[in-house]
Amino acid sequence: MDHCSARLSLVCLLLATCLAAAATAESPSPIDLKTGELEVSTSFSHLDPVVTHAVSSIERGRTWFRYDPFGSRLFFTDALRLNEVLAGVTPRQALALGVKVDSDNLPGSVRDALRRGEVDLDDPAVTRFLFQRFAVVGVVAEVTDDGKLENLGITCALCHSTVDDSLAPGVGRRLDGWANRDLDVGTILSLAPNLQPFADLLGVPVDTVRAVLQSWGPGRFDAHLNLDGKAFRPDGASGSVLIPPAFGLAGVNLHTYEGWGSVTYWNAFVAGHEMNGLGRFYDPRLADAEKYPIAAAAGLDDVREVPDLVTRRLADLHLYQLAMPAPTPPEGSFDPEAAARGGTLFLGKAACADCHVPPLFTEPGWNLHTPEEIGIDSFQADRGPEGRYRTTPLKGLWSHMRGGFYHDGRFETLLEVIEHYDQHFDLELTDAEKADLTEYLKSL
Ligand code: HEC
Ligand code: HEC
Repeated sequence: MDHCSARLSLVCLLLATCLAAAATAESPSPIDLKTGELEVSTSFSHLDPVVTHAVSSIERGRTWFRYDPFGSRLFFTDALRLNEVLAGVTPRQALALGVKVDSDNLPGSVRDALRRGEVDLDDPAVTRFLFQRFAVVGVVAEVTDDGKLENLGITCALCHSTVDDSLAPGVGRRLDGWANRDLDVGTILSLAPNLQPFADLLGVPVDTVRAVLQSWGPGRFDAHLNLDGKAFRPDGASGSVLIPPAFGLAGVNLHTYEGWGSVTYWNAFVAGHEMNGLGRFYDPRLADAEKYPIAAAAGLDDVREVPDLVTRRLADLHLYQLAMPAPTPPEGSFDPEAAARGGTLFLGKAACADCHVPPLFTEPGWNLHTPEEIGIDSFQADRGPEGRYRTTPLKGLWSHMRGGFYHDGRFETLLEVIEHYDQHFDLELTDAEKADLTEYLKSL
């Protein structure tokens, strides 16, 4: 061996030793490559450009979710004139309709007065003050000097946020993503002085529009009415569905009860077609005049509003919704031992996890099922694009126990849901097993 190659092999030896030491001291892969388990805790520096981007995008998304009406003032103020009614509504009336008040947007003195019960909830001037502070969850408006409301529009938070009631019932800190099951959207809309725009769209008299809106009830809305014009089910019940949560959606493929598309698909749809904001929207499925006569006639399959106030918000809105975790159930809200037994049943004898696959509690992949598979009628599934129902992700179920379960709230309690599956799948669950499964569902 000459001098030179001897030196080289010494370097090689040193290098090999260093590499081996480095590999044992600090593995560059945080994942165990055999099991996929996390081996080293990954703490990302806030200087990581991806993380920095994500955080600022999520913060912007929160602002759009809470406060951006996407130009919907043209509809709610100029067309429906809902502002005229809401300017005269008292806080007590608004709260009774399920509207929530964000206490963080109020000055400390007002919070104290509220806590002491010293705010006059029968004075519409207080409502206008709440609007001035952007404290009415999901409704934004400007208050003029002579006490009128102008440029009133709605935001995503109206239906998909509530408050923790920490100051008073309906008044507290915002809980974004929670379904507002107290909100009576239909009754609020029915108060509008001008319902003609709905009547024109649906081709029915104004009185019919009002009756339909009043048939919905709290926590419900019908996002398909302006597509297919079907206000009632064949059995005469309302065609409206329950407002779902907008948290816990990351990892879930198809969204809405009918599986219309991804979160961002549905955001573009809702901002334009339901909130009546100004946006760009494209979906040729809505051009099917047989299935969606109203949507096809109104050209909802290809909308190009100028200016487009929606598309520029979609990325931030998307990230914000994906970032919202499902809330964990409060201590004492379920029996942990029964829930543990219920969890075993969920995975085993009751076979719930065949579809509700933990930890997403929906199927990875194309998460839709025919009505026959889950043993119910096809009315609502047929209003969607696939004639199927999406497997509901179950995390945070405890936060929306009001209004019932399944898309239309047909099962009043979780026990009724379980009894339905017990019959449909012939599970032969005992009463004790049903009770354990119920506790498990409450623990998610
Ligand atoms: C007037 C009430 C209302 C408003 C306002 C509203 N939504 Fe919804 N949202 C609903 C209802 C009702 C559904 C269920 C529709 C269906 O499946 O038929 C829904 C469904 C959803 C879903 C699907 C959830 C799931 O489990 O798959 C998401 C996500 C969502 N909305 C986000 C938003 C965002 C973002 C906005 C604002 C751009 C918004 N919504 C505005 C009532 C509303
Ligand atoms: C074949 C697939 C499938 C199986 C198996 C299944 N589910 Fe479901 N589940 C669904 C679908 C689809 C929906 C949505 C139904 C609707 O909204 O109309 C749903 C809805 C639910 C809901 C209502 C959630 C809500 O927010 O309203 C609960 C609770 C539920 N399932 C629990 C269970 C339990 C418990 C089991 C086992 C006993 C089970 N599921 C088995 C597919 C399934």
